Parts: sequence; C-alpha cells; structure tokens
Amino acid sequence: MLINNIEQGYILTPDHTKTPFLPEHFDPNYWQQQNAIVGTKEGRATAWFFRHNNQISVLKHYWRGGMVGKLLSDQYLFQGLKSTRVYKEFLLLCELEQRGLPVPSPVAAKISTSYCIYRGDLITAAITGATSLCEVLQTREITLNQLNKIAQTIAQFHRAGVYHADLNINNILFNEAGEVYLIDFDRGELRTPSHSWQKHNMDRLRRSFYKEAGKWPTFYFTDNNWEQLNLAYKQALAR
Ligand SMILES: Nc1ncnc2c1ncn2[C@@H]1O[C@H](COP(=O)(O)OP(=O)(O)O)[C@@H](O)[C@H]1O
Ligand SMILES: [Mg+2]
Repeated sequence: MLINNIEQGYILTPDHTKTPFLPEHFDPNYWQQQNAIVGTKEGRATAWFFRHNNQISVLKHYWRGGMVGKLLSDQYLFQGLKSTRVYKEFLLLCELEQRGLPVPSPVAAKISTSYCIYRGDLITAAITGATSLCEVLQTREITLNQLNKIAQTIAQFHRAGVYHADLNINNILFNEAGEVYLIDFDRGELRTPSHSWQKHNMDRLRRSFYKEAGKWPTFYFTDNNWEQLNLAYKQALAR
C-alpha cells in the first residue's frame, strides 16, 4: 500500500497503482462534471459509480450511523493515520485481495484531516453486474446452489480469520457470473479463527434476513433456507 501526503491529509493506493489519485477524485461533483457518473446506490450513504481509467469504480464517503450520527455526521476523531477506519479498511482490502479472497479491489482512499478530526472516502473497483442477496430475495427464492456458494464464501473468509463487523445480506453480492463477493469491511479485521466471533458474524447475518423481510412487500426467504445455509456453512468451515 502506498501512502501519499496531501495538503490536509493522506491518499492511499495499492502498490501496483500507476496513475496517481488527486483530492478532487474523491468528490462526486468532480465525476459529475466529467460526465463520468454511471449510477448510484443508496446504502447508509450514497455509493457513486463512475468511469475512470477504463474501469467502473465506486466512491463511498464514511458516515457515522445510529444516534451519534445525527450529531456528528461524517467527522471522526483523528488519532493518527493508522488508527483511522479508512486506513484499516483499505489495508485489510489490500491484504484480502492479495490472498485471493473475493472482495472488491481497493482503488484509492482519502483521509482528510483538520485539527483533531478526519473525514474519509473509499474507492473500490465495481463488481460487474452486482446484485445483493437482499435484492435477489425481493424478486425470487434463492437456489440451493446459490445458498451453498454463499456458505462456502463465508466459510472461506472465516477460515482465513477475517472478521466482518457488519455481515448482512446487503453486503453479500453476486457478480454477473454468479460468483459471491463480500463487501464493506469497515471495522473488519484479521483475527485468530475462533467459534465465538464466527458465530457472532453468523448471528448478525441471520438477523439481517428477518429484518429485511419485514421491510419489503415481497421477500422470498424461509426458516428452511437459513437452516440450509447454516448447515452448508458449518460443513465448509470444517473442511
Ligand atoms: N465494489 C462494489 N461493487 C458493486 N457495488 C458496490 C460496491 N461497493 C458498494 N456497492 C454497493 O453500494 C452499497 C453500499 O456500499 P457499502 O460499502 O456496503 O456501504 P454502506 O453499507 O456503509 O452504505 C452496497 O450495498 C452495494 O450495493
Ligand atoms: Mg453495506
């Protein structure tokens, strides 16, 4: 990972990056002016999809969630570059990609500092034709084959010691070839594999199915689907 000092902060890129990233590249208005925006997606915040260097990338600003979020918006306490959530997520993505795990390729990140606060932005390569598990379930029931793929992918991360702080059905994507990716590694980390945090991840995932089921007019998910997923996961983990 390369660290580039800018006037008020830092820009991070992977080692193999050829063209530099500039501060304005982290501003959605810049890409709008270039006519490069090809889509947006509303998560907790807007994800901006833009065309740059012959690829589609996704720009995401870091926002605080929950009650605190309403007061503090996008500002975080700065306690050194390596303690920032942006730095940690970017470094983790670089490591996971190197290990061949299915994550979006890290492209660049920016940490903007001002006195003792920072703001963060992350750019990753877009997963082509991505559909989240949550989106799939709004239109049809998931196949056993897809359930198995999801289970195997989560087990692959867990065997590698990857703790995902927010494993939920919006952070599990299928690309156009039907391959499974995990995204959104904010506050994720490498840990010694252990049943307790792995179960914590799976419990969170299970809750997300039921939470989203209550949100959408149609949602094709059954208790049986969860049992199948969890069984396939346990089998894959033990392999
Ligand atoms: N690399 C990517 N490729 C395709 N879609 C993405 C990518 N990164 C994010 N998205 C989409 O944007 C949404 C929000 O991004 P995410 O990183 O999960 O942020 P958050 O959950 O904090 O809003 C995701 O649910 C996904 O639909
Ligand atoms: Mg997310």
